Amino acid sequence: MESSSASNEEVTAVPASWNFEPNETLLGLMALSVRGVLARIKAEMVAGGGGGRPVIPMGHGDPSAFPCFRTAPEAVDAVAGALQSGEYNSYSTCVGLEPARRSVARYLSRDLPYELSPDDVYLTNGGAQAIEIVCSALARPGANILLPRPGYKLYEARAVFSGMEARYFDLVPGEGWEVDTDSVRALADKNTVAVVIINPGNPCGNVYSYEHLAKVAETARKLGVFVVADEAYAHLTFGERRFVPMGVFGAVAPVITLGSISKRWLVPGWRLGWIATSDPSGVFQRTKVASSIKTYHYICSDPTTFVQGAVPNLLENTSEEFFRRNIRTLKESADMCWEKLKGVNGIACPSRPMGSMFVMVKLDLSCLQGIEDDMDFCCRLAKEESVVVLPGRVVGCEDWLRITFAIDPSSLEDGLDRLRSFCSRHSKPAAQGSAASVV
Ligand SMILES: Cc1ncc(COP(=O)(O)O)c(C=O)c1O
Repeated sequence: MESSSASNEEVTAVPASWNFEPNETLLGLMALSVRGVLARIKAEMVAGGGGGRPVIPMGHGDPSAFPCFRTAPEAVDAVAGALQSGEYNSYSTCVGLEPARRSVARYLSRDLPYELSPDDVYLTNGGAQAIEIVCSALARPGANILLPRPGYKLYEARAVFSGMEARYFDLVPGEGWEVDTDSVRALADKNTVAVVIINPGNPCGNVYSYEHLAKVAETARKLGVFVVADEAYAHLTFGERRFVPMGVFGAVAPVITLGSISKRWLVPGWRLGWIATSDPSGVFQRTKVASSIKTYHYICSDPTTFVQGAVPNLLENTSEEFFRRNIRTLKESADMCWEKLKGVNGIACPSRPMGSMFVMVKLDLSCLQGIEDDMDFCCRLAKEESVVVLPGRVVGCEDWLRITFAIDPSSLEDGLDRLRSFCSRHSKPAAQGSAASVV
């Protein structure tokens, strides 16, 4: 009796403390998350009442809620067909179903000087998991990776979380946000494993020329580092430059390409992406990069099997008209954004967007009264005008803003007008009527 009540006490007694310590590195990564910061701005807007007007979301990278950015019916049919077939209810193979990998290889090879094989392709839960896997596979103690600034901070989060150092090279605003290859050379050392480029660019809306990509590949080759090419916005170009995949230069320096259906098909919620290796010289096999990527797939979750089952039909049957229509809408929105931003006090736009869904603009706080920084600007804009834009610090540039123009045109026009009246209301008297000087 006695011994049983003692053991009950032991079970029910509350310990003085729990053996958990928060991982401060992990908690600190919240500041790098676009969605985390946007949620914070929206929360402040709700608390401030938001002025009762409809919210204009110009901070996101997901236009799929707008009727003008609905996905293609062929894509919906592909998923519905896969689901109804009953053939995709099982776990998939770890690297992805072979027919889906074959169709991604075929799709990417259309723009390459050689053919990728299904074994060069690994399917992922969207581009985000592709970033996680590549950072994990490349990391080793002491390694570093070179990232663009401004850029997509998920790379830093995943690199740091994998124990790798993130080093930033600059993109040059006045030169179409091209990579400053001198700054890449200055940062690299014997522990540098890769250089990341994002083309078309988030957050800059850049589209790199063939010549510029060749220069980046040549720089990587001389440094002995791989190229990680983030092509989440592949083919979303509307200026005079066409999209050139980095894999074209795979023989110059080995290229790991990350892609997904999220942006081109406007279905980020379907969570289907890929890693593709363009490496005709077989470096990734010899250095075990390929087996590291493959092994990582064995210890993480796969994209939903029925979405994988839909991939061949989705890639092969989507009409060109769907893509053309989206590009037309994006071009009209980008043009409107560029024109309307020109006369806004305290804001300068150094480079006309030519691709993706975003433009970067610089704040000139000396023209604006009572605005402390980009975060303060975004919180007040949200509170006073119900317009949400992304503070530049989330993409590596304080006192800049990232504006998304991929929303329906009438909301965009309204949002840009509200932005203008916000800036004019907060302008210093002397600054009225003058836009910030271009960087
Ligand atoms: C540059 C870049 N890479 C990768 C991703 C992640 O892609 P996904 O939405 O397919 O996970 C995004 C998403 O916004 C992105 O902007």
